[in-house]
Amino acid sequence: ARQIWITRHGESEDNVAGKIGGNAKLTARGHKYATALAKFIDHMRLKFREQQLEDWAKDKEKRISGLQPGVESPIRDEAPPKELAYSVWTSYLNRSIQTGEHFDDSIFAIKSIRLLDEINAGQCEGMTYDAIKEQYPHEFEARRRDKLHYRYPGPGGESYLDVIHRLNNVIVEIERMRDHVCLIGHRVIVRILLAYFLNLEQSKIIDLEVPLETLYVLEPKPYAVVSRKFVYNN
Ligand code: F6P
Repeated sequence: ARQIWITRHGESEDNVAGKIGGNAKLTARGHKYATALAKFIDHMRLKFREQQLEDWAKDKEKRISGLQPGVESPIRDEAPPKELAYSVWTSYLNRSIQTGEHFDDSIFAIKSIRLLDEINAGQCEGMTYDAIKEQYPHEFEARRRDKLHYRYPGPGGESYLDVIHRLNNVIVEIERMRDHVCLIGHRVIVRILLAYFLNLEQSKIIDLEVPLETLYVLEPKPYAVVSRKFVYNN
């Protein structure tokens, strides 16, 4: 087993202003969350390793006693299991990169991936929802009616389906690796990743509740994916 951690970046200046998209920096509060996140993930990494070694030692005891049914050669696999590697993936946007910067890069392999960028809101980038409603009432209404398929007009504008499509490549990569990973994404990115790993219906993605300062961990087990949620309350 390994762990897949998913969170949004820490609070950004645009989050405070209620503006969508853009490439804002973290606020002081955002940095505080990022520090707490890095510390917590490192703690959980050590805890996972402890458990892994404990399980291995228990297993070894059983093998040596020779009393486990079905064990043929009593002493095998003397070397402890290798510690899993740890990756931290951010998007190419400042708020995500800055959140990742709080991790110790001698332990975590930190990488920025453009495919993890937030949905591109085209000509609505940098606007508040109220401003969109006022300046582009038809667009606002069209999105409200069919958020999944609605593609923002203007250069680079995307729909949820576009983002789902580009994230497929990241998902393939996550599933291929056997090591731990912490993904520092954005609202739409986190919605889509959670929906994928938890097997939710596509129609549920668009309004999944994924607040800032909330951390999800997914552990793929043979029978299902077990998920837990942690909330930052400082
Ligand atoms: O407000 C933060 C944000 O990540 C925006 O950058 C993005 O456009 C929005 O959330 C996505 O949420 P929704 O699809 O519900 O508008």
